Amino acid sequence: MPETSPEPPVTCRPILNEAEQEAAFHVRTEVFVVEQGCPPEEELDEYDAVAQHFVALAGDEVIGTARVYSLGNGAAKVGRVAVLREWRGRGIGVALMEAVWEWAGKAGYRECVLHAQTYVIPFYKRLGYAAEGEIFYEANIPHRKMRRRFGEATEELQPGKGWWKF
Ligand SMILES: CC(C)(COP(=O)(O)OP(=O)(O)OC[C@H]1O[C@@H](n2cnc3c(N)ncnc32)[C@H](O)[C@@H]1OP(=O)(O)O)[C@@H](O)C(=O)NCCC(=O)NCCS
Repeated sequence: MPETSPEPPVTCRPILNEAEQEAAFHVRTEVFVVEQGCPPEEELDEYDAVAQHFVALAGDEVIGTARVYSLGNGAAKVGRVAVLREWRGRGIGVALMEAVWEWAGKAGYRECVLHAQTYVIPFYKRLGYAAEGEIFYEANIPHRKMRRRFGEATEELQPGKGWWKF
């Protein structure tokens, strides 16, 4: 399981129980509704029932989350990627995304796709995702579609570039 360097160590993995699911929803509310002003009625949606949810745990505190669900045709949709503000900039977002990637590979997906808020495109690019298509709006926030295929080289993730923090 991916771990990051902060103290206490942070572990990123699929959720194990309902309490972790609730805590993950709480993180999403804090980040997307309270911090970013997204409409609360759009935050939880029908995909939550079918998605695999992930948590980033500092000890037993849930401080980050993401979800993944199938789009059919071998594509996994990654979304609701969030780390509590006070925990950002310590490699936890990367660890979360790599936990998702590892899981999606084992589950047999051929690619991961996501809708990135435009300001965060550099974060996903450095994880090996490529942007495509025009800017569009979700919850009044500009987004672009991004895609990362299994089997493609991700030069940005080579150790020794000051990026890989596990
Ligand atoms: C996006 C988010 C999940 C990143 O989490 P994080 O734990 O801060 O990310 P990391 O610490 O793993 O970031 C790793 C690298 O990405 C960079 N990075 C993170 N967010 C970035 C951004 N918005 N733009 C550019 N670079 C960014 C960091 O600077 C860091 O680079 P470094 O190692 O060279 O310093 C977090 O900022 C967040 O929850 N944002 C609010 C919710 C959101 O917008 N989610 C995305 C929806 S598409």
